[in-house]
Amino acid sequence: MDSSWSLGEYAIEELFEMAAIVEQGGFDFYARLIARISKPQVKNELKFLRDEEATHKSFFLEQLRKAGLTPKGTVGPGLRALLDREFLEPLEKVYASRDVADTDKTLAFGVALEQKTIGFYTALRSGNAASEQLADIDRIIAEEENHKKRLGIIRAS
Ligand SMILES: [Fe+2]
Ligand SMILES: [Fe+2]
Repeated sequence: MDSSWSLGEYAIEELFEMAAIVEQGGFDFYARLIARISKPQVKNELKFLRDEEATHKSFFLEQLRKAGLTPKGTVGPGLRALLDREFLEPLEKVYASRDVADTDKTLAFGVALEQKTIGFYTALRSGNAASEQLADIDRIIAEEENHKKRLGIIRAS
């Protein structure tokens, strides 16, 4: 659904709440993968991705604090449905599936997850963010692109 994100009605603060949950989901995904990998080089590479997701989460939460808000750790019903359908349910599904034992399939899922995150941030960037937030959001999008690229390299190795 990368081409059809419609975020127009949502406040940027609520989208940042959602982004923080998405980043936590990415962090947990990489943490689970790291626990199963034995090659130190691949482990280190995945730790780098995991830690960048933590930095991204901090950025989104910091934006809320700057706006005088306390992060709630949740979103309203409209975004909740989107968050569940696009991020949390696919993650739960992959954890419950026997495919989770297949590292290549899990890495391929990671690539798709990064791509979906990029679609979400691209929509949020063009429709909802304030001009002073664009440079940071662009940097995060570039880092997610880099994650996708690094996952591709691990898959090919
Ligand atoms: Fe991220
Ligand atoms: Fe990422």
